[in-house]
Amino acid sequence: VSNGFNVAVVGATGAVGNEFLRLFEERNFPIRNLKLLASARSVGKQMQFRGETLTIEEATKESFDGIDFAFFSAGASRSRELAPAAVEAGAVVIDNSSAFRMDPAVPLVVPEVNPFALTPNTRLVAVPNCTAIILLVAVNPLQALGKIDRLIVSTYQSASGGGAKVMDELIYETEQAVSALRGVPGDGSGREKVLPHPYAFNLFSHNTPINEHGYNDEEWKVIQESRKILDQPELRVNVTCVRVPVIRAHSESVTIEFAGEAPSEAQIREVLAKAPGVQLVDDREANAFPMPITASGQGDVLVGRIRKDLSHPNAISMFIAGDQLLKGAALNAVQIAELILNTGQPIDSFA
Ligand SMILES: NC(=O)c1ccc[n+]([C@@H]2O[C@H](COP(=O)([O-])OP(=O)(O)OC[C@H]3O[C@@H](n4cnc5c(N)ncnc54)[C@H](OP(=O)(O)O)[C@@H]3O)[C@@H](O)[C@H]2O)c1
Repeated sequence: VSNGFNVAVVGATGAVGNEFLRLFEERNFPIRNLKLLASARSVGKQMQFRGETLTIEEATKESFDGIDFAFFSAGASRSRELAPAAVEAGAVVIDNSSAFRMDPAVPLVVPEVNPFALTPNTRLVAVPNCTAIILLVAVNPLQALGKIDRLIVSTYQSASGGGAKVMDELIYETEQAVSALRGVPGDGSGREKVLPHPYAFNLFSHNTPINEHGYNDEEWKVIQESRKILDQPELRVNVTCVRVPVIRAHSESVTIEFAGEAPSEAQIREVLAKAPGVQLVDDREANAFPMPITASGQGDVLVGRIRKDLSHPNAISMFIAGDQLLKGAALNAVQIAELILNTGQPIDSFA
């Protein structure tokens, strides 16, 4: 392709990285050259893109010469080390890690919610935490019906949120657990575990460290990032994050408390039916509501179980599910790049 941009993906071999390649093809992202970067372990591995075989290179500070867009999904320490070099080399960096999200100088963007956070000078954009993105795509449109005062959220987070190794761990432990239930001895391989607890047929509080307030890192990110994205520093948010043995897509039980009396179910449905990135799945008769299995592989956040919270006149509840590898990560990042291209904002320097 002669026109288009030079694009780099840091972390191309990972769970999010794989989705980038698929999305670039699906959405016809204007790419002239695609550079695939990962750790030294992956150098020489090959991946397919638009029918071509591309070879993985090691990500270093020198990787970004001539790159227009660099998509980072290789962990926060890699982003801290390499993203400044990419910006320095003239790339616009769209970072999926937590490294820069709470930096006041860095826009934290969900295109459906706060596209205006991008400015003509933006060179580094942070993609929010996946749980926060899925939550806010569903919650933000309801601000049209009244001021939102408080969110109470419980999550049901899948293996894919932890990356490729955690997905493998769930599959392996499930096979072992099924064999054990059938009286077949395990393979005794003593395989190294990523997660701290048995995962098959189990669930546990999110596997991130607990802070001095008793919240784990994942919960803290949802609280802080929601406040930043909605530009409501005082927003009251209570979150409990739980890892469940689902292979892909996160689900969340959400109670939304408005400052005044809650809108009606009909008003909520009407607003959400028109909201970008939202798909209503709310069939009470068929008992058909959002599920991770139906959310997987699609860009929309599914929303259902919409009802008044009978315990509080200002509150409503709903249940949502979204593919966190897509809307929670790669898709949100590509949409940010598309937004930049469509508005021509930070792109002028590429002329
Ligand atoms: N999974 C999600 O739903 C999700 C959602 C939002 C954000 N994120 C963020 O996206 C990032 C990647 O997540 P993931 O789920 O895709 O993880 P993953 O499947 O474990 O993939 C990690 C990627 O990072 C690369 N990497 C690791 N160490 C590296 C190093 N020293 N130098 C260069 N590359 C290195 C890996 O390359 P090798 O193959 O060479 O090891 C691999 O490509 C993390 O920052 C994560 O927080 C993930």
